[in-house]
Amino acid sequence: MITKKKSLKRPKVILSAAISLDGQITTISGDSKLSNTEDWKRVHHLRASKDAIMVGSGTILADDSKLTVKPEYFKPGQTIRNPIRIVVSSSGKIPLDSRVIKFRPEIQTIIATTRNCPKERVHKFEKEGCEVIICGEEPLVNLRHLMPVLFQDYEIKSILLEGGSKLNGSMLTDKLIDEIHVAIAPVLGGDGVPFFTFPNEFSSFDQSPFLEILSFEPIGDMIYLHLRVRYEPRTLI
Ligand SMILES: NC(=O)c1ccc[n+]([C@@H]2O[C@H](COP(=O)([O-])OP(=O)(O)OC[C@H]3O[C@@H](n4cnc5c(N)ncnc54)[C@H](OP(=O)(O)O)[C@@H]3O)[C@@H](O)[C@H]2O)c1
Repeated sequence: MITKKKSLKRPKVILSAAISLDGQITTISGDSKLSNTEDWKRVHHLRASKDAIMVGSGTILADDSKLTVKPEYFKPGQTIRNPIRIVVSSSGKIPLDSRVIKFRPEIQTIIATTRNCPKERVHKFEKEGCEVIICGEEPLVNLRHLMPVLFQDYEIKSILLEGGSKLNGSMLTDKLIDEIHVAIAPVLGGDGVPFFTFPNEFSSFDQSPFLEILSFEPIGDMIYLHLRVRYEPRTLI
């Protein structure tokens, strides 16, 4: 019997991050400089291979990220495609002069928000050339609503999710992450920001998805892991 593979009605989502050995993405003071040059190269090549890059508003507020692809990580003359930038923010609190809006405005930026975002804020984003998608009336952006809209209306078939902690946790809870690419740095972050902040904590490892290791390799002084997310408990052998 041939079983037809179910096609996704949402973009394929790959989460990428650099973490400390104890699973933090920043220290308590907000230092997130964990990647070495090889890891940055990995990130920029991943970015260039996807239709969109997505982050939460916390990451924009902390890092003022441009979310573009840097040509210096590519061969001279190589054609580089910049993915669409998506910022998830129900409050619309990201500054209008953020680099994700002002830097290279010809690269599309989408603000995914909710009905709670003041109308005049929505108009200001649009005036800056951003697309605004309203996803629900709940306190946070309804990610299960957002994904099919990005897929169908914007033809976004693949997304590189680049944090931060809260958005990673929500995306995983909603079973929207397919793969994880993570570079582990040989340092400790202490009481910083964890890789994932979950809306509901797990009480046992049975409640965690199983993260199947597809490959691992050293990259400079870091270890790079490529994982597939299986939304089923791990079987201990
Ligand atoms: N090491 C790394 O690889 C790496 C990568 C990325 C980020 N970081 C670090 O991560 C930190 C930011 O992480 P964070 O957890 O504070 O912020 P975040 O996950 O980037 O953004 C969270 C914010 O997004 C908005 N949001 C809207 N809908 C949401 C939903 N359904 N689920 C979750 N969030 C939603 C909320 O703010 P609104 O009020 O706007 O709705 C929420 O507070 C920064 O310090 C940054 O440097 C590190």
